[in-house]
Amino acid sequence: MKWLKALNKVQIPTKGNIKTLEVGGKQLCIINNEDKIIATQSFCPHAGGHFSGGWFKNGHLVCPVHRYEYNLKTGRGAEGQGDYIHIYPTELREDGLYIGFEESWWSKLWG
Ligand code: FES
Repeated sequence: MKWLKALNKVQIPTKGNIKTLEVGGKQLCIINNEDKIIATQSFCPHAGGHFSGGWFKNGHLVCPVHRYEYNLKTGRGAEGQGDYIHIYPTELREDGLYIGFEESWWSKLWG
């Protein structure tokens, strides 16, 4: 796992808010749901809606376009959707928020 710093502590979104940013070449949404910080992909797998205008309901992220719902722990779409979103590991450190990225086999070989 490769950890990259995403935000300083003061930049972390406040409760109920979503911030979009690019980390490690990927556009992510950083979400504060009930003071839990979660990082997800920023585009909805259904039809490409942007999660920045979304909201939270019972531990799910709701896409603002067609209201599909995604579990904020597992990334799984609600029953019947058959899709999922990527949830990135987060770590709050002294100097800010870090996001974990899986290292692929080729990056281990070639750096
Ligand atoms: S684009 Fe997100 S629910 Fe359709």
